[in-house]
Amino acid sequence: MERTVVWYLRMSLVYFIAGAIIGFSVLLWPGEAGYYISTHVHLNLLGFMSMMIYGVGYHILPKFSGRHMYSPMIMKVQFWLSNAGLTGMAVSWPFVARGSEGTAETMLILTSAMSLLAVILFAINILKTVKVVQM
Ligand code: HEM
Ligand code: HEM
Repeated sequence: MERTVVWYLRMSLVYFIAGAIIGFSVLLWPGEAGYYISTHVHLNLLGFMSMMIYGVGYHILPKFSGRHMYSPMIMKVQFWLSNAGLTGMAVSWPFVARGSEGTAETMLILTSAMSLLAVILFAINILKTVKVVQM
């Protein structure tokens, strides 16, 4: 497997563990739930699920189309953007939920924009890769 693909899969599982730990902690301390749910939800859905789909998608979709990936460079840039984006979101969200303004808010907006850009790069890279194969 390509190195970046393996790292997408590894990071996906790291986020799964972190998301599950936060979900479980929220069960133990329900009073804190309101501050940590957004982090829990996005570690699981944007971290575990989306990152797993990025990795598996990059590995199998070009093969299924009988083509090379449109841009391995986009895949690498997207890896760093999506990980920096999600980590920043996960860390800053509880502060913003507690009412912090300034740095935390700016960090949440900036890292959310990085996650969004990563989503768009993934879409472009896959759309440019997969093509109809004549049967
Ligand atoms: C060990 C695993 C997990 C535990 C212990 C856990 C626990 C929790 C808890 C306590 C809540 C808050 C419920 C509430 O009071 O409103 C919650 C919410 C949520 N969890 Fe998890 N969770 C786990 C895994 C997951 C996974 C794997 C996903 C998605 C792939 C997920 C998605 C969500 C979502 C979307 C919400 C928000 C639901 C809403 O809008 O109210 N959770 N989870
Ligand atoms: C660019 C990436 C994303 C950004 C910037 C983003 C941002 C947000 C924001 C601002 C909220 C409202 C949180 C609140 O204040 O209560 C939210 C909620 C939510 N998002 Fe996302 N999101 C992203 C990606 C995703 C993805 C990919 C999924 C699912 C696959 C997802 C699932 C959810 C769910 C289930 C909720 C409701 C959680 C709850 O019950 O509190 N998000 N998101």
